[in-house]
Amino acid sequence: MLKNLNKIAKDTNFFLRKYLKKQKYSGLLNAMNYGLFPGGKKIRSKILIDAGKIFNVNYSKLIIIGAAVECVHAYSLIHDDLPSMDNDLIRREKPSTHVKFGEATAILAGNSLLALAFEILSDKKLNLKVKTKNILIKKLSKCAGHAGIAGGQFLDLYFEKKNIPFKKIVNMQLKKTGKLFGYCSSVPAIIKNSSEKKINAFEAIGSDIGLLFQIVDDLIDYKGDSKKVGKKTKKDIKLGKATLISLLGYKKTVIYSEKLIIKIQKKIMKYGKQSKDLKETINYILSRANEQL
Ligand code: IPE
Ligand code: IPE
Ligand code: MG
Ligand code: MG
Ligand code: MG
Repeated sequence: MLKNLNKIAKDTNFFLRKYLKKQKYSGLLNAMNYGLFPGGKKIRSKILIDAGKIFNVNYSKLIIIGAAVECVHAYSLIHDDLPSMDNDLIRREKPSTHVKFGEATAILAGNSLLALAFEILSDKKLNLKVKTKNILIKKLSKCAGHAGIAGGQFLDLYFEKKNIPFKKIVNMQLKKTGKLFGYCSSVPAIIKNSSEKKINAFEAIGSDIGLLFQIVDDLIDYKGDSKKVGKKTKKDIKLGKATLISLLGYKKTVIYSEKLIIKIQKKIMKYGKQSKDLKETINYILSRANEQL
């Protein structure tokens, strides 16, 4: 198990539970809670904290931002499992949100979690300069919308059962998964008012980590055991998903992911000791491909 991942997950969940408890009652809260808890590795929050170490950013602030990111992520999973998308019945070792609450409620609970992310970022509990907050809110909107998750998910579905070239698959995966990771790794640089160049560099590193994460998720889907993974595996082939595995085969995809990790490690090497945790997280991401088999 990766050092600190459990603690980060616990702290993020603690914040989110409290935040949801303070919400005025609505019929959607149950489904929202169900989509958020329990489970979820909180790997995106981990990237935030790891990058935060490089920039020396306050832990509690990053936990709040991570909570917002996890709301966006949980929303994307609820919608990803819908019958009109991947039609998955199991998520995080339990029936998917739409199986439990019905499709309409799942759609609306997903929408509500997406909205909640921005409520959290704009909350006064997150003590940052207004200018910084505006940047964080704008960037997260871009990651969630048509240029990010939603746009990537659209392509993922549009590409089903088609022959899609390498570049287009990578671009789709960067949008649906990479962007949000890129956000997480660049947030500390934004908070510390770093140069545009540095912010962009960290965004690019994060996007590549997200791409690696998605490729490993695809490898796990191909070879993994449903019981261990907590969601149904061997679904991508069935749905005709365009993945690097469907294009290159399993072995060549493993080789590509090994090349990608070297590229990422090279980029973070110059940050020395402070990038140790980030380095460990990246190694953990790749190691999941073997451990989950
Ligand atoms: C699953 O994400 C969806 C992908 C982007 C591959 P995670 O594997 O981070 O899901 P949880 O939060 O741990 O359940
Ligand atoms: C989902 O990718 C990516 C998202 C942005 C939600 P997948 O469809 O491969 O995720 P799983 O395997 O269902 O978790
Ligand atoms: Mg999907
Ligand atoms: Mg899916
Ligand atoms: Mg998958």
